[in-house]
Amino acid sequence: MRRLRASESVRAMVAENVVLPENLILPVFLTEGDGNEPIASMPGVERLTVPALVEKCRALLALGVRGIAPFPKTPPEKKTPDGEESANPDCLVCRAIRAVKAAVPEMLVFADIALDPYTTHGHDGVLNAAGTDVDNDATVERLVRMALRNAEAGADFVAPSDMMDGRIARIRAALDAGGFSRVGILAYSAKFASAFYGPFREAVGSRKSGVGNVTGLTKKTYQLSPANRREAVREALLDEAECADMVMVKPALPYLDIIRDVRERVGLPVAAYQVSGEYSQIKAAAQLGYLDCEAARDESLLAVRRAGADIILTYFAEEYARDFRKKRL
Ligand code: PBG
Repeated sequence: MRRLRASESVRAMVAENVVLPENLILPVFLTEGDGNEPIASMPGVERLTVPALVEKCRALLALGVRGIAPFPKTPPEKKTPDGEESANPDCLVCRAIRAVKAAVPEMLVFADIALDPYTTHGHDGVLNAAGTDVDNDATVERLVRMALRNAEAGADFVAPSDMMDGRIARIRAALDAGGFSRVGILAYSAKFASAFYGPFREAVGSRKSGVGNVTGLTKKTYQLSPANRREAVREALLDEAECADMVMVKPALPYLDIIRDVRERVGLPVAAYQVSGEYSQIKAAAQLGYLDCEAARDESLLAVRRAGADIILTYFAEEYARDFRKKRL
C-alpha cells in the first residue's frame, strides 16, 4: 500500500477527493456601522460594511470563490417581536445584495431566509399568542415576504434556514407567481439544534430570548435532534419534493453520516455548512498552539467533501482559496 503514498506527486495523483475554491460559499456578516467590526468569538472574521463587502466579493472572485451568504447584525431599535424589518426592501441585507450584484454580478448571492436577526427574542419565526412556541404557518407567510424582497434585490438563491414545515413549496410558488422563476432555493433541510452555532449568535446578536413565556434560546421545537438520522433524510426528501434546487446539512463535521445519507438518497446538489463553532474551535486551538490551523482546516473541509458534500459553506473560504492557489502556482 505504501507505494501509492511514497511522494507528494503520487499522493496528488491518486487523491480521490479535492476541495476546489469553486465548491465554497463564504458566509459574511454585515454591520450598519461605518467601519468593520471584529467578532470576539470568531478570530479573523469581521462584520463588514456594504462597501467592504463589495471589495471582499472582488477578492473572492479573483480567488475562484463564487458564492456569498450574507447575515446582518440588526441594531436593537430595528428589532421587533415579529421581525418586521425582514420585509423591509431597504434593510441592510437588501442594500448589500443590490450593491454586490451591481458591482460584481458574477458573484452568486445566497440570501438567508429566517427571522432571527430581526426578532427581539432571537427565534427564527414569530411566536404563538401564548408566547410559548414559534407559530409555523404565520412564520411561513413572513418568510415568503422576506424571500420576495431578497429576490427583488437581486439574490440568485434564497436559503430558508428557519426549519418551518412547508416553507419550500410556499416560497417556490410565491417566487414563480412574482416573476422570479429564475431565483433558486437552497434549503437548509437537515439543520440540527446545535451548540456549534454559539459564535454565530454573537456575530448577529441573536443570542438571547426572554419574550413571553420563552426563556433562554432553545430552537429544539423546530431544528432537528442530533439523535436523529432517518428524520434528517425525510426532511431532505420533503424539500426535494417541494422543488428545492439544493439541500443542506448543518453543521458539517459532526454530521458526516447525515451528509452521506442525504447524498445517497437525494438527487440534488448537497451543501454542508461548516458552522461558526466548527471554525472557532479550530482557530482557538491554533491560538493555544494545540493544532496547526491550516492542516486542521484542510482536513476538515476534505472530510466534508468526502462524505458527499458538493458545496461547503465555510468561514475559511477566502483563506482556503488563497492557500489553494499558492500551492498550485
Ligand atoms: C439562524 C441561523 C443560524 C446559523 C445560520 N442561520 C443559527 C441559529 O439557528 O441560531 C448558524 C450558522 C453558524 O453557526 O455559523 N437562522
